[in-house]
Amino acid sequence: MDHFHYISGRLHAEGIAADTLADALGTPLYVYSQRTMHDHVTRFRAAFAEIDPLLCYAVKACSNLGILRRLVEAGMGMDVVSGIELERAWLAGCPMDKVVFAGVGKSDDEIRAALDGRHSPLRDRTGDLNAGDPAARGPVGVLNTESRSELERIAAVAAELGIRARVAIRLNPDIDAGAHDHTTTGRAGDKFGVPADLAAALCADFRAHPHVEIAGFHVHLGSPIYKPDPYLQAIDRLTTLIDRVESEGTTITHLDLGGGIGADYETGQTPPFSTFAEAMIPRLRPLVARGVRIALEPGRTIMANAGVLIVTVRHVKRQGGRRFVICDAGMNALIRPSLYGAKHFIWPIQVEPGLEPADRRFEAPGVEPCDVVGPVCESGDFLARGIHLPEVQRGDRLAVFTAGAYGMTMASTYNDQPLPAEALADADRAVLLRPRQPAFDLIAPGLAESAVSIPAEIRA
Ligand code: LLP
Repeated sequence: MDHFHYISGRLHAEGIAADTLADALGTPLYVYSQRTMHDHVTRFRAAFAEIDPLLCYAVKACSNLGILRRLVEAGMGMDVVSGIELERAWLAGCPMDKVVFAGVGKSDDEIRAALDGRHSPLRDRTGDLNAGDPAARGPVGVLNTESRSELERIAAVAAELGIRARVAIRLNPDIDAGAHDHTTTGRAGDKFGVPADLAAALCADFRAHPHVEIAGFHVHLGSPIYKPDPYLQAIDRLTTLIDRVESEGTTITHLDLGGGIGADYETGQTPPFSTFAEAMIPRLRPLVARGVRIALEPGRTIMANAGVLIVTVRHVKRQGGRRFVICDAGMNALIRPSLYGAKHFIWPIQVEPGLEPADRRFEAPGVEPCDVVGPVCESGDFLARGIHLPEVQRGDRLAVFTAGAYGMTMASTYNDQPLPAEALADADRAVLLRPRQPAFDLIAPGLAESAVSIPAEIRA
């Protein structure tokens, strides 16, 4: 459910006509809906309320600071996977004890900043950012680890800082959640997590470590997932693992089940949150009763339907038996169709009466197939192939729906296309969250060359 609707042939983001936003801000333009985000958070929290989980929004889904700030105001913690995402969570005002830090290859510097804000890469820029002192922020709630080697680095950095790091071991449960091959993460052959035997061995080896507390486990099976079953299998395997390590003397207080719940790219594709919650809660209840706090990391399901991408048609041409609608953005602004074969509903933001789509669907005479493509010099640059659109012409604008998650965060400047602008609709108020990237900002870093000084002893 979302708050993008056609009223008299004009797409509205909440109370604002999308064409007025496109006129004011240009395209390509991401437009988010505050009320949609908020509704998703509220409904997600309500579905899982009985077990009172720590809800950590997956920043990678949409990391705009304005979005993060509003999600923090709505009570969300944050799931981050890089040092910069961590800084964004902090700048958005998220208490550090509500931050979980995942990622298969964290650097020592990232670990250091996660454990002690004096090592924040922004510590000298707080004046520019109008931010407080990161030194005072404290360590993240949990650092997830995905290998013995990484756990040893966490232990070493924590020892250097003189603190005890709270850690969760990511289990690779060997479950195929059935997402796209690129985004299925819980199979034995995937790079993520460690097998159960190694997880148990790490608990034993680090049990008495002065600088590491093994607080629990983490799992993330993949994304998007449209049925509860893979989560249930994972909970069963995690329960077995928890029983095993507790019998060996490790007390588990934290269990993070990751993200992955799908979004409605096509109407009705994802069951309501309550379907997942009702299936999962009976198996989680006994763990909660034993003192385990459950964490969840939803990203897509909060943001996907809370954002649309608006593009402008530059040209229409017919050749090779196809109709090409050439727009001002393609894979550079939204790579999901090119990368995963993802299907996003697309429709003009202004249509004749009677051509308003209902439920992301439209079939009628005169509505014909076309390829919606971008300006990038690759045949793989498309927003959709073979989708049905009415007649469109140069200057018309199209909305690409369900683009709020993994849209802007995966956008690139390939072909030197500037990154799109991002705006938020909040009832009848519009806010520019991030302006379009200026041309100078693309070019500036390469303007000046400088010699790299290499110490004499390592010169060839
Ligand atoms: N937690 C971890 C450890 C993750 O790796 C992810 C997503 C999430 C949470 C959030 O998953 P979500 O609730 O958003 O499904 N770029 C792909 C999706 C990649 C997801 C990566 N990890 C796409 O556009 O479909």
